[in-house]
Amino acid sequence: MDFTLREIYSPERINREVQRLAREISSDYHGKEITVLVILKGAFIFAADLVRKLTVPVTVDFLEISSYCGMDSTGKTMMVKDVGHPIQGKDVLIVEDIIDQGLCLSVLLQDLSRRNPASLKICTLIDNRKRRTHPIEADYVGIRDVCGFLVGYGLDMDQRYRELPALYEVVPSDKSDDVPH
Ligand code: IMP
Ligand code: MG
Repeated sequence: MDFTLREIYSPERINREVQRLAREISSDYHGKEITVLVILKGAFIFAADLVRKLTVPVTVDFLEISSYCGMDSTGKTMMVKDVGHPIQGKDVLIVEDIIDQGLCLSVLLQDLSRRNPASLKICTLIDNRKRRTHPIEADYVGIRDVCGFLVGYGLDMDQRYRELPALYEVVPSDKSDDVPH
């Protein structure tokens, strides 16, 4: 497929939303320590920026969910990498890049809530609620209802473009009026 990348959110806009989220989260968790769970791979850049703007203490852990978990019909979790430390009794904040259908997170939430954290909340950079097939609600949302397939700022297409500092929509060439990337 020939395509171009059209910038839809600049690094400055992303930075403003991350700053806003960090303020909200720091205020809500005042006096507590947050166990930040970063969902690999897509959320690694967002999480790195977010935790550096928080004013409450954090610990950071990572887990990876396979990209095909949405196709799973068995209800089994498709965790590629689990967290390194128990979350029982912790105030856990899941940091995700984008929630679309909500399949991946609904599987993950069931699994994590069985481990008895003190609290379990979700922070996502992008929330596409219109595409939701599973009833997942994010507690903290950076950007709502973005159309198209996105890359950059951690998000990939076939593992590429994660390093781009802005968020881009992948536009098939015949629809694009942009300069080819
Ligand atoms: P969901 O189960 O449909 O909510 O899928 C969520 C996961 O699919 C995200 O965590 C991303 O890793 C991936 N994903 C969904 N939409 C996009 C996109 O537009 N660009 C890149 N990855 C995406
Ligand atoms: Mg993801």
